[in-house]
Amino acid sequence: MTLTRDEAAARIMVALDRPDAAAAESLIRALDGIPCWLKVGMELFYAAGPAFVAGLKERGYRVFLDVKMHDIPNTVKGGAMSLTRLGVDLFNVHAAGGVRMMEAALEGAEAASGGRPRPRVIAVTQLTSTSREVLNGEIGIPGTPEEAVVRYALLAKRAGLDGVVASAREARAVKAACGAGFLAVTPGIRPASAPADDQARITTPREALEAGADYLVIGRPITAAPDPRAAFESILKELIGA
Ligand code: C5P
Repeated sequence: MTLTRDEAAARIMVALDRPDAAAAESLIRALDGIPCWLKVGMELFYAAGPAFVAGLKERGYRVFLDVKMHDIPNTVKGGAMSLTRLGVDLFNVHAAGGVRMMEAALEGAEAASGGRPRPRVIAVTQLTSTSREVLNGEIGIPGTPEEAVVRYALLAKRAGLDGVVASAREARAVKAACGAGFLAVTPGIRPASAPADDQARITTPREALEAGADYLVIGRPITAAPDPRAAFESILKELIGA
């Protein structure tokens, strides 16, 4: 697969895991002009709120709102309507909430889109921080992480969702089970030289693309680097021509 610089950048979702809008803003400024996605997760969303997210959209960024909803279907539908009104491009729910809950998320997205294309909705399968020991011994799910991920992915597909969040290690199996058009958004990305932090199932950026990942979610390897722009550029170099 050969990608141009801009195509490769558009496959990266930078996790803006920052405590407030000002801290996130300095990271966004460091990446100014790069056509990447911005991912807003719980830390920033709970602090900076909907107005910050709507502001990113007004400035033309593609935004993944990573708030991992998991509640009763009626509540998730309402949450999905509120997130859709912010104009985000992508948001997610936990597949563990079941098919009916995931359908409710889609219903909410459709109901609140007001004639515009609805945001894409994807399901978290197993967190990339979950090792096999934790999966089997603590959470009580038998089998390998890949088996659990594929089972959740099939549930998400049955509910009509657009794809899943999974480790790139499972991207191939997800695509084989759910089809090439079913999105695989993959966190747990670590360039060979970066520390794993709390992630258990990691791959390099290039391995992730080669495994079929549509989007790579990358946080600390960029955001905790002394020079985030240089870190981004070095990941891009690795991806171009992957
Ligand atoms: O810093 P790092 O690259 O580990 O950041 C990964 C990002 O992806 C974090 O924002 C984390 O919340 C998110 N994420 C994840 N695993 C999932 C879903 C989302 O690591 N299954």
